[in-house]
Amino acid sequence: MTLWSGRFSSAMGSGLWDLSESYSFDHVLYPYDIVGSKAHVRGLVRAELVSADEGTTLIAALDEVLTEFRDDRFTRSASDEDIHMAIERRVIELAGDVGAKLHTARSRNDQVATTFRLFTLNAVAHVATATLDLIDVLVGIGERNQDVHLPGYTHLQRAQPILLSHHLNAHAWALLRDVDRLLDAHDRMNVSPLGAGALAGTSLFIDPSYVAQELGFESAFTNSLDAVSDRDFVAETLFDIALLGVHLSRMGEELVLWTTAEFNFATLSDDYATGSSMLPQKKNSDVAELARAKSGRLVGNLTGLLVMLKGLPLSYNRDLQEDKEPLFDSYRQVMMVLAALGGAYDSMTFNGDVAAVAADDPFMVAIDIAEELVSQGVPFRQAHEQVGRLVGEAVTSQRTLCDVVREHPDFERFVGLFEPGVALSRRRSPGSSGPQSAGAQRDLLARTRARLEERLAHDIDALPDEIRSST
Ligand code: ARG
Repeated sequence: MTLWSGRFSSAMGSGLWDLSESYSFDHVLYPYDIVGSKAHVRGLVRAELVSADEGTTLIAALDEVLTEFRDDRFTRSASDEDIHMAIERRVIELAGDVGAKLHTARSRNDQVATTFRLFTLNAVAHVATATLDLIDVLVGIGERNQDVHLPGYTHLQRAQPILLSHHLNAHAWALLRDVDRLLDAHDRMNVSPLGAGALAGTSLFIDPSYVAQELGFESAFTNSLDAVSDRDFVAETLFDIALLGVHLSRMGEELVLWTTAEFNFATLSDDYATGSSMLPQKKNSDVAELARAKSGRLVGNLTGLLVMLKGLPLSYNRDLQEDKEPLFDSYRQVMMVLAALGGAYDSMTFNGDVAAVAADDPFMVAIDIAEELVSQGVPFRQAHEQVGRLVGEAVTSQRTLCDVVREHPDFERFVGLFEPGVALSRRRSPGSSGPQSAGAQRDLLARTRARLEERLAHDIDALPDEIRSST
């Protein structure tokens, strides 16, 4: 018998039960649901809907249920259709008639919205923290390899030489935006739906802003219909994780390339590489390939949720139960990718000598000769044309651009630009890959990171104690 079986003459058919039950996946929400219920009880006491003694009994029962879950001795009853019903059923078992008062002035609709928001607030904080950790790894590699140069690519063709730190910091900036986005989403979802009831509030006198405050939310809902149906926070979080996943996929794709014999810019450590079951010599970058692959799944989770939401009328519909698994999955997957990529990067060796040879490819000096001509007054298009002809000559005569320039009376004065590292060191515009702007960029990155970390610490601080330790 479910807790709502009063108006029914028969139990649920097994086909419907299997479709409808969500305990099998939402039981992980137990700490969030219990925290929400404890705040709800305090609200009921304050509203004098339960006595102080009853409140104490209810809170003790909820704490006991929490301990049962933590000690892995909570037993699901056959009628527990979801985590909310399971906890309430157990509270009633433990506290008798007083337990039956727990659901006063509450519906599972505002309850589940509250529980899942608390889970998501915590998940967002964890993803942001792990992303900051990966940023630190990337920045650290740049610091330790300040003189490593490599070619920068467009269209995957060598374009201009750059510093390894500039390259890794480009990834770090994308990840910083991901953290920023997660924290923005955090701010928007920081609204408590508890007290909205099934959809229209309640005739009982409760104070939603009190429980909101008790739970560490910034505010309480202002519209009960919106409160129980809003899943923007799930969609936003899934998007933020999907975009983060796309950034991690880009990093993965690059690691795959860099660790090939063809590029050989980097070598994975043995503990972050994988072997082949048949070919003894193989050392594969599965870590990077899986980082690349997981992004598809993360985008799929976002797409699935948006399609589920599309077309739902106000307010709560059971479809909304399908919001959980995509987020659970995206959260778990992205945390694994962040940790694995961090480990792979941190333990990888950069083959600076190999990268330097590629970074000193004479063709990449072409733009520097053109820019020298520009600073001597030649219009850029003409300079481009002149250097383009030199490049054409080098290609057809199978000589290096450096040799062609050295032997050309009009251009021979530019031969010094081909010295190793010279082209790169001359790049001085703000935000460029030259060593001059590296310091300023490093400072700005560190300041941005510190600002985000402070915001994150503040968000984590606001979470209820029981939740802060949950993952
Ligand atoms: N397990 C449900 C969910 O996740 C709880 C809400 C059920 N509400 C209802 N009116 N049937 O959405």
